[in-house]
Amino acid sequence: MMVSESFTPEEPRRDCDLQLNSSGNLQHLLTLEGLEAKRIQELLDRADTYLSPAGSPVIRTEDLVGMTVANLFFEPSTRTRASFELAAKRSGADVLNLDLNTSSRKKGESILDMIYTLVAMRVDVFVIRDGSAGIPGYIARHVDNHVSILNAGEADVSHPTQGLLDLLTIRQHAIRHHHGVLDNLTVTIVGDIAHSRVARSAAAGLSALGVGDLRLVCPPSLAPAAGLFPGATITHDLDTGIAGADVVMVLRIQRERIDNPDGVPGSDEYFANYGVTHERMTKAAANAIVMHPGPMNRGIEIESSLADGPSSVIRQQVTNGVAVRMAVLATVAGTISAQ
Ligand code: CP
Repeated sequence: MMVSESFTPEEPRRDCDLQLNSSGNLQHLLTLEGLEAKRIQELLDRADTYLSPAGSPVIRTEDLVGMTVANLFFEPSTRTRASFELAAKRSGADVLNLDLNTSSRKKGESILDMIYTLVAMRVDVFVIRDGSAGIPGYIARHVDNHVSILNAGEADVSHPTQGLLDLLTIRQHAIRHHHGVLDNLTVTIVGDIAHSRVARSAAAGLSALGVGDLRLVCPPSLAPAAGLFPGATITHDLDTGIAGADVVMVLRIQRERIDNPDGVPGSDEYFANYGVTHERMTKAAANAIVMHPGPMNRGIEIESSLADGPSSVIRQQVTNGVAVRMAVLATVAGTISAQ
């Protein structure tokens, strides 16, 4: 992963304010932290309109006809990249998937020079994944108001479209079993909380929507820094954390982000203490669902048959991901095309 030589991480981070334009409309999606509940609900409501039953034709729109979306992934991805591409195409956009292994960033071009070059080719929306904290916000600060930056995964900080698709999936469960409200719902996130942008974005969105009880379960060595999850309770005991939970979100250990593995459990020890299994799920609420953002390590953080079982909504999350990304693209396209 390359970082622009002109990138200045010490710039003040006000990503939540930065993502709205001067008229208060969503121009960029950088974080769910600080995003109003009303705006989140509007995105989820819009995503609902892009869902169609399996086996029926996918929904296509003309929301982005005449626009170009560029996917710039400086870290690996299967789900996010593919679903942004499908979402953009189903919305009528031209899509550019830049091969960053052969891009001129490898020759020392700064990230901003690369963005400005693509803007000159009339790219309107940039979907960016990067392993350095602050990159999406940094770029958003330096583009004009007819360009949109969408954060597709930023280090261990933020993954807002993953957060939205998780919220949509949880809301679907709440509609079926809890009258559509989240305030009496218990959501338990299990895994490597310390390095998880997925947990950060899910927690921010769930808090905004007023979730009843948010619990984090992790080994002590993978606990988050103090203050990152306001309102959540943290436990190191899986059975305690899972008891009565309506939603159990399982995360993998992000070994690629761990510089010093001392104290981090090996795979067998981790599965024994933190692996989510059928047996563990008997302590959760009746009708509880199991989520995982992927990629999954079967037999390490989740029992393989549980991932494929009736309580699993993992593939539903993937389906929801395309709809959510269509909703985000349509929303920011409406903002930037009105400039
Ligand atoms: N959930 C998620 O971000 O998956 P990818 O890394 O495959 O995009």
